[in-house]
Amino acid sequence: MKILLFGRGGQVGWELQRSLSVLGEVVAVDFDPAHNPDGLCGDFSNLAGLAETVQRVKPDVIVNAAAHTAVDKAESEPEFARTLNALAPGVLAEQAKALGAWLVHYSTDYVFDGSDTAPWRESDATGPLSVYGRTKLEGEQRVASTPKHLIFRTSWVYAARGGNFAKTMLRLAGERDALTVIDDQFGAPTSAELLADVTTHTLRAAMLRPELAGLYHCVAAGETTWCGYARYVLAQAQALGWPLKAGPEQVAPTSTANYPTPAQRPLNSRLDTSRLQTAFNLVLPPWQQGVARMLTEIKGSTAP
Ligand SMILES: NC(=O)c1ccc[n+]([C@@H]2O[C@H](COP(=O)([O-])OP(=O)(O)OC[C@H]3O[C@@H](n4cnc5c(N)ncnc54)[C@H](OP(=O)(O)O)[C@@H]3O)[C@@H](O)[C@H]2O)c1
Repeated sequence: MKILLFGRGGQVGWELQRSLSVLGEVVAVDFDPAHNPDGLCGDFSNLAGLAETVQRVKPDVIVNAAAHTAVDKAESEPEFARTLNALAPGVLAEQAKALGAWLVHYSTDYVFDGSDTAPWRESDATGPLSVYGRTKLEGEQRVASTPKHLIFRTSWVYAARGGNFAKTMLRLAGERDALTVIDDQFGAPTSAELLADVTTHTLRAAMLRPELAGLYHCVAAGETTWCGYARYVLAQAQALGWPLKAGPEQVAPTSTANYPTPAQRPLNSRLDTSRLQTAFNLVLPPWQQGVARMLTEIKGSTAP
């Protein structure tokens, strides 16, 4: 089996290179053709180049981990964000359909408006508040135009590799005596490792049972706020012997209203994962498990 992976250098793309390798040959590309096999195009702003890449590789599966993920920046470059998040996945869907290949794609909690407090289900009405959310929603719709698709909506992704919120908190806590962090946005930090592992399991199952194709929410279990997440990170870091000026007690809560950003973010980013767990007989671990693991990994210690 041949798998064509786009966005190989991102948080999720990097982990997918590992997890997908047990299913078959992985041809992994990113937007720099100089580093791609056979000069293949992985640049999502080059729609014709993407189509040609799929036609040349003739994969059984296309996995798309590339995206315009700079949520605030997208507000000032909506057309570029739309090209990367909606038009390019649309091209992959057309090509997948023509080949009869599977297409795996990732989307976001930001397709919702964040109202109420109940975890969002796949069938709930969407209402994106930002350019990022709107373009990702259009991307989902375009990907769903090919029957053999898996779309995973996830949230608050982190990985040991690359920058993320937890690493930013560690850096700031090493520099400052106190931090102030938003405490009214609720969601679940989700590791790129978990997403990659779930992708491999579900893809294997869906290839055997195509009726499993569809849209699924995929996040770690439990919930927190950015403030709760920051406190957990600092408590774990302290326990690992990290030199910090600010510990969890020095993290003060604030509200979204006090921290204006170009893009509006949903307050309720909780995602209900029961559809995924039931359909594929999977268990999603508590969010703390993956965060503790990442911190141990980046500290260079041995996990207990
Ligand atoms: N990060 C989150 O918190 C989060 C939350 C919900 C959903 N998601 C979704 O999860 C998926 C994976 O996200 P991630 O966290 O792995 O994001 P990421 O680390 O930002 O990776 C995105 C990848 O897309 C690449 N990319 C950027 N511009 C490109 C272009 N013009 N052409 C081709 N590739 C380009 C990036 O390359 P460079 O690194 O070289 O720029 C990177 O490899 C995305 O669909 C994202 O929307 C992420």
